[in-house]
Amino acid sequence: MMYSQENSSLPGQPATDFREGSSLLEQLAAYSRSDFYPFHMPGHKRTPLPFPNPWTVDITEIEGFDNLHRPEGILKELQEETARLFGARQSFLLVNGSTCGLLAAVSACVKRGGKLLLSRNCHKSVYHAVYLRDLTPVYLLPKLTDFGVMGSLEPEEVERALRAQPDIQAVLAVSPTYDGVVSDIERIAAITHRHGVPLIVDEAHGAHFPFGEEGLFPTSALELGADLVVQSLHKTLPAFTQTALLHLNTELVEEAVLKRFLGIYQSSSPSYLLMASMAQCMELLKKEGPRRFVDFGKRLSRFYQSCRRLSHIRLFDGHTEAHCFAWDRSKLLISASELGLSGQELYQILLREYHLQMEMASGHYVLALTSLMDREEGFARLAEALFQIERDYGAETAGALRHTAPDAAPAPFTPLHSGDIYRIPRLAMTPARAMEAPGRTVLLKDSAGAVSQEYICLYPPGIPLLAPGEVLDEDLLTVILKLKDSGLSLEGLSDPTNTRINIVKS
Ligand SMILES: Cc1ncc(COP(=O)(O)O)c(C=O)c1O
Repeated sequence: MMYSQENSSLPGQPATDFREGSSLLEQLAAYSRSDFYPFHMPGHKRTPLPFPNPWTVDITEIEGFDNLHRPEGILKELQEETARLFGARQSFLLVNGSTCGLLAAVSACVKRGGKLLLSRNCHKSVYHAVYLRDLTPVYLLPKLTDFGVMGSLEPEEVERALRAQPDIQAVLAVSPTYDGVVSDIERIAAITHRHGVPLIVDEAHGAHFPFGEEGLFPTSALELGADLVVQSLHKTLPAFTQTALLHLNTELVEEAVLKRFLGIYQSSSPSYLLMASMAQCMELLKKEGPRRFVDFGKRLSRFYQSCRRLSHIRLFDGHTEAHCFAWDRSKLLISASELGLSGQELYQILLREYHLQMEMASGHYVLALTSLMDREEGFARLAEALFQIERDYGAETAGALRHTAPDAAPAPFTPLHSGDIYRIPRLAMTPARAMEAPGRTVLLKDSAGAVSQEYICLYPPGIPLLAPGEVLDEDLLTVILKLKDSGLSLEGLSDPTNTRINIVKS
């Protein structure tokens, strides 16, 4: 999800150059030797844990090493140990990320052609599940916080939707969001259960929630009544990229059906390197987790405390924001828009001048992802950089960067704050039917009234303004054309110039 360097580079200047050698491996090695500090995934932060040379331990399902698709030995034990550690009834190791966990969870809960209630800001894998299973999506649209990120799901909205459409078969909430915003899962689960439907929680960004002292992080959906919970280990804990967990905590979902779909969406050759790194992550959580999370909490507190002295750079504080039920303070959302800097500009300054690699740049803020593996050095360097940026880009110099780079990333974007760009268009047919119907290509500007075969997303944050099967009405078209004209990055259309759109042939 990281804002691509290609998009975010200032004109004529590659963001960084690690091309010391010609191969990918050489570039990776050069990056790892550099002083660039990772405020991005994976959560291990490139901290070497004891691990044999990968070439010497990369095997497949041979005698004595069990089979992930039918675990009876060492992998079964590892899954059971994982369930105990995370407080789940049953846990499944995922080697294809939360992506495959969400595909399996949705597929197991909603019959082909059925209806799913989901938040509009969910990950694309959920949209893909809707497509693959020809589901009818019913969307919930969270309100924006004052800071300008999407807030929590309202339990009342879930109740209203389930009453209005009793044929909904499951509810999917993303909590925390990429920005760390958490919803009231306990109330939402109580509501879905009153209606007899399972709640799937995409907790991809919250695998660390079950750990640390009470109050350090929001409570995990696993403790709050969610039926299926999907967590990416690699995002916020020390495990290799692609590692994730799917927890089954209910009898509302058939275990055999869930397993059937996991068998479809997971690789038939699951990597033992990935699974070993998951085992190693569990060991570290058990042995060193309590101490490391205490240290992590202290580092975060010190960082936020010192940043209080910043006068123009603002850090998101979910505790004081409207429409934010709870929030994960390990996600540092930093805005320098008062200095006249867009998110992309701040991202580039931190990268080039301070060698601090952020996770993501949005229109008006950057996201620094932290984990229990972060070092004091990282927090200190980030705080120092922010104070220096305030000095360098104070009110009188705020325009200087844009002056030197007139075509640079767009300025902070106000319509996003006012919340008037996101709405749910009318659904004319399921996404699958629209995508597979005979289509034609028309000019976007002439497409009012058409049923789209494609997505249009403002990126970041990547939430669809329009999805396949939805009607592009005059108002929405006006918004989209305005966004396009203001130079913001629209994604999803197959036409790279965003001039044409594929629509269902009428
Ligand atoms: C909210 C959310 N859910 C799910 C995923 C998919 O996770 P993975 O990369 O582990 O497949 C992502 C990925 O960025 C995400 O942001």
